[in-house]
Amino acid sequence: MDLNVVILAAGKGTRMKSRLPKVLQPLAKKPLLSHVLQTSLRLNATRVIVVYGHGGEQVKEQISSQFPGSPIEWVEQREQLGTGHAVKQALPQLQDNSRTLVLYGDVPLTGDDTLNRFLNQVSPGQCGVLTVKLANPKGYGRIIRDHAGVVREIVEEKDAGDEIRKICEVNTGIMLADTLDLQAWLPKITNNNAQGEYYLTDVVKLANDHDVPVIGCLVDNPVEVEGVNDKRQLARLERMYQQQLADELMVAGATLIDPARIDIRGSVSVGQDCCIDINCIFEGNVTLGDNVQIGANCVIINSSIADNSVVKPYCHIENAVIGADCDVGPFARLRPGTEMKEHARIGNFVETKNTVLGKGSKANHLTYLGDTVTGDKVNVGAGTITCNYDGVNKHKTIIGDGAFIGSNSSLVAPVEIGAGATVGAGSTITKDADQNALTVARAKQITVTGWKRPEKKK
Ligand code: UD1
Ligand code: MG
Repeated sequence: MDLNVVILAAGKGTRMKSRLPKVLQPLAKKPLLSHVLQTSLRLNATRVIVVYGHGGEQVKEQISSQFPGSPIEWVEQREQLGTGHAVKQALPQLQDNSRTLVLYGDVPLTGDDTLNRFLNQVSPGQCGVLTVKLANPKGYGRIIRDHAGVVREIVEEKDAGDEIRKICEVNTGIMLADTLDLQAWLPKITNNNAQGEYYLTDVVKLANDHDVPVIGCLVDNPVEVEGVNDKRQLARLERMYQQQLADELMVAGATLIDPARIDIRGSVSVGQDCCIDINCIFEGNVTLGDNVQIGANCVIINSSIADNSVVKPYCHIENAVIGADCDVGPFARLRPGTEMKEHARIGNFVETKNTVLGKGSKANHLTYLGDTVTGDKVNVGAGTITCNYDGVNKHKTIIGDGAFIGSNSSLVAPVEIGAGATVGAGSTITKDADQNALTVARAKQITVTGWKRPEKKK
């Protein structure tokens, strides 16, 4: 049977005290709702329907662009009249011959294993409720089971008497049923309860009335079903999630100097014997080869770093490809389009953009290289600047194999430095420099005889 997923995401999220709708609040730099959508798509759902309300257009726009070509549909719930009313809005979109799983846009960390187990434990023709045992069940709907363990009813806190409030097994909200059953039952739900809402949980009683068994599946880890209502909960889940990602990285073989001090906002893959020091942030897709060493306090975004390379502390690396046996930092900034070939070195206070550094080439100190291609074994002296921008256009600098650029030189692009050329320190190079020759382009040093320092008048 096909699987349809309905994601409830219409709540206001008042307690976030934010202009950003709750389901767009970021967890690991990704909207809460995106986490739930990715999980849904991994379950191979044939339809995924998001019920949106507050901040709807913004939610729709931002999320749709992240999931091009996915079977995601949007249904508006104009007034939030309850979870049962919300799921009802999605009914016309659902496939008759399917099962429907109800998830929540603000419950981001439900694991694939947990949901697959749930989908397997509940057979077609049955109804399923995902439950959890909490030491403090206050505020949640309580699970009422009969002696055989079948779930008979879910009673909301506000509708419960003292005895029922003592029950520690609660409703996570995540439910599963045959779509045809939901189509039959949801129109029958009334709002005749303490909150005056249409409760999705009333489906349980209706299932029992129709002799449809309701299976309660218990989740082991409460974090997997925890919702986010305020910034404290958001921060808590962020830490839990980061711990999970750090664990996965260590299982993959990485050494983390402190797994509590790494942040992964995307995915990191590692070879053997990689070591990551504290306070590093990884964004997008980052690939580390074997034996890559990352120093403390680095930010690495959408980049790959090949075997045996070392990134020293405090580097910012974005959209860069770093080859094997390279050395970067400390305090280097590699901007998009940077490529380092094997054994290249970029040292402290060097910024690169759209630049290829050839094999064994070095820019070790205080340099800006933009729109530059260097050959192999080039030495870029301290303080070298490529002047690649004339205020309107960008121009290229080409530096041949084995060239040596003296310190504090400006290379005014477009310009080419020949292979084996030497540029004298302090040169401003505006014309191509010949290969294997010394080019010096600076005012000649003179000595002014008879010059006197100015003196203060008494
Ligand atoms: C609901 C359950 C309760 C469960 C708890 C788990 C019902 C009646 N109760 O209670 O048994 O223990 O979740 O957290 O289902 N939403 C909409 N449209 C609406 C109402 C809600 O989209 O009209 C969304 C909210 O944005 C939220 C979710 O559904 O993400 C749950 O709604 P909420 O009002 O917080 O449910 P609870 O009262 O906590
Ligand atoms: Mg409520």
